[in-house]
Amino acid sequence: MPISSYHHVFQPGTDASAPPLLLLHGTGGDEHDLLRLGHTLSPSSALLSPRGDVSEGGARRFFARLAEGVFDPAEVTRRTHALADWLAAASAKYSLDPARLTAVGFSNGANIAATLLLLRPATLGAAVMLRPMVVLDQPAAPGSLAGKRALLLNGSFDPIVPADHQARLAALLRAGGADVTAQSFPASHNLTPPDIATAQAWLRPKP
Ligand code: MLT
Repeated sequence: MPISSYHHVFQPGTDASAPPLLLLHGTGGDEHDLLRLGHTLSPSSALLSPRGDVSEGGARRFFARLAEGVFDPAEVTRRTHALADWLAAASAKYSLDPARLTAVGFSNGANIAATLLLLRPATLGAAVMLRPMVVLDQPAAPGSLAGKRALLLNGSFDPIVPADHQARLAALLRAGGADVTAQSFPASHNLTPPDIATAQAWLRPKP
């Protein structure tokens, strides 16, 4: 897949020991949306930020949906493989190690980070999923996520993500052996300071 198939921004890192971040925006965002967040979470990381290639009335997303909260598994699967194929080309071009590449996704971007882990586990080493939900009710293949870390942060007043989805998604990822941390805050769909602080601490290298 050509590197040009997703509009994207790449910002080189300043410290090779910091994990490169794959930034995945929410519905209606673009490739610039999460650059500041990525820099806040891990200031010396390289940042790779693609723009969703699906338009919902002009709002960019990473896969189409039938209605809010209603998904077509074939569409989600197809778009996940397309992004994974592009990531392989982008990782080669920018010399990023897929085993260290850490997705930081918000909302629709968190959801495609989750499906990348479920369907194409070799494309990522870890993922921070901000307000994720279950869009593909399919457990990871046993062992496919061994050694990979996932952080799931949800809001307990979120009108978009049903209350049981965080635990269900955690179980789908743990089926593959992922080391999953799941936390909820008294928050809605928008991010709050505790989301940022928790993600920063989770990303910080362990001594
Ligand atoms: C989705 O469609 O991926 C989720 O409902 C999150 C959203 O984009 O609103």
